Amino acid sequence: MSRITITVNGQSLVGNTHQPLLEQLEQAGLQPEFQCRNGVCGACRCKLQKGSVSQQDTMAYLAAGEILTCSAIPAQNIELDFDYQVSFVARKAVNL
Ligand code: FES
Repeated sequence: MSRITITVNGQSLVGNTHQPLLEQLEQAGLQPEFQCRNGVCGACRCKLQKGSVSQQDTMAYLAAGEILTCSAIPAQNIELDFDYQVSFVARKAVNL
């Protein structure tokens, strides 16, 4: 596994080269849109601005430069642009 940087709408986070992007973004606390998680609906579509991914065959339509985060695995540092604000999940304080 290689450690990489994933930049999402200008925010950077640490990622890897073995997990689908959607899972990695969620694990980092982001809430990107999704529905099927299987390359069919296209809800997780975004623009790949820099870098490369391994994109599985999908049924959803993809324009040039677009990827589906549910079925793409980064191959190197990447930069993604979603055409909406991708917010972080509000984290609750935990009293120990
Ligand atoms: S969530 Fe449906 S194509 Fe990615």
